[in-house]
Amino acid sequence: MDKIKIVGGNRLQGSVILSGSKNAALPILVSSLLTAEECTYERVPNLQDIEFILRVLGELGAEIDGELDDGTVKVKCEEIDQVEAPYDLVRKMRASVLVLGPLLARFGEAKVSLPGGCAIGARPINFHLEGLKALGAQIELQEGYVIAKCKRLKGNRVTFPFPSVGATEHLMMAASLAQGETVLENCAREPEIVNLGETLNKMGVKLEGAGEETIRIQGRDSLNGGRFRIMADRIEAGTYLTAGFITQGKVKVEGLEPIHLEAVLKVFEKAGARISRGKESIELEAQGLARGTPITTEPFPGFPTDMQAQFMALMCVAQGESEITETIFENRFMHVSELTRLGADVSTKGNVAVVRGVHTLNGAPLMATDLRASASLIVAGLVAKGETVVSRVYHLDRGYERLEEKLSALGANIERLKETT
Ligand code: EPU
Repeated sequence: MDKIKIVGGNRLQGSVILSGSKNAALPILVSSLLTAEECTYERVPNLQDIEFILRVLGELGAEIDGELDDGTVKVKCEEIDQVEAPYDLVRKMRASVLVLGPLLARFGEAKVSLPGGCAIGARPINFHLEGLKALGAQIELQEGYVIAKCKRLKGNRVTFPFPSVGATEHLMMAASLAQGETVLENCAREPEIVNLGETLNKMGVKLEGAGEETIRIQGRDSLNGGRFRIMADRIEAGTYLTAGFITQGKVKVEGLEPIHLEAVLKVFEKAGARISRGKESIELEAQGLARGTPITTEPFPGFPTDMQAQFMALMCVAQGESEITETIFENRFMHVSELTRLGADVSTKGNVAVVRGVHTLNGAPLMATDLRASASLIVAGLVAKGETVVSRVYHLDRGYERLEEKLSALGANIERLKETT
């Protein structure tokens, strides 16, 4: 397995062109199952998770054309010859579970493995299943599989117990082919939901309210294909800005609407950075060391859980103390023990971590545990004295496109050590 080696200490400076958003691209690619027509997607990031969802679609019978290298992919789901996503596919990437609703809505049946837990939490899909039931699906759980059937899904009112990103996306897609109107309440409001809403509207659905608490969807009998664009990755943006801040540098990210990252930008400002917001760019200029600043993760528009680990790395070398509260996932502090190996002073109690800033981190061999935890170790490695080697880099490859190339261009001393055996 590849490793990433960083020699810390370089101040980062320059600009990064952002890739397409992983978490927007995943449901949007799945939405191609809703139509027999060809869908062309632009700014698709070249990531393991994206290759994987395309493989899932391919196994169901989709025709896939185009190279991830140039960001444009065509998907045509005209001849879907099976409606089953087996355990081996779903356990590797839980977003595959999103094929359930579109398959059910279009073909009247689907069989999809339950994903199981993952490194950051139990992550059940009960809100997804309850929502599909409200649209008339008959759902049974058998030997680890969800078996869903329906004649035709019927629009209904669904109130989510919590604004789940995945459940909101899943129901938006299923309701697009349901008969009549569906009203989704207490929806997630993340920008990725807006990007999916735009896509579904272009496919012929009448969908209002994506990005708000209530989404109204008038289902259609059939949908059309078309050309769709994936939004820029706001978490990738936040990660590079954090890298700029921790190295006391000046980093600009390009291609993103600053409003998508506003909660993080406000916290950066509180912590002492100067932020310039352009139309589709953000520049961060450090004004010395960061100041200890508390955060609590929340659904959008609050501080994103997907930035918590990277922000913690920044706080490890900040002046003073900061309290970091994780409210979205029950086990998302896996990076703490690895940061501690670099000399960080972090203690956790339940879902709260207290970080006391230290003068210096010292490089060490580290083990990545999940995507954002890995990103936090990279960010910390950029200021740690000497050499930090992060192993299990496949976690990073799931969600960051050409990470070492982009950081090198900003001035980091970073390289990928290829597995030779
Ligand atoms: N939840 C339930 N039941 C459900 C659905 C969710 O209890 O049916 C709980 C989860 O266990 C969790 C909370 O609700 O505690 C929020 O989960 P949500 O459904 O919003 O998360 P998700 O859709 O599974 C997406 C992103 C995650 C990101 C979260 C929160 C994708 C593919 N994944 O996950 O991204 O952390 O929203 O913003 O969009 C990442 O990119 O590293 C990542 C983990």
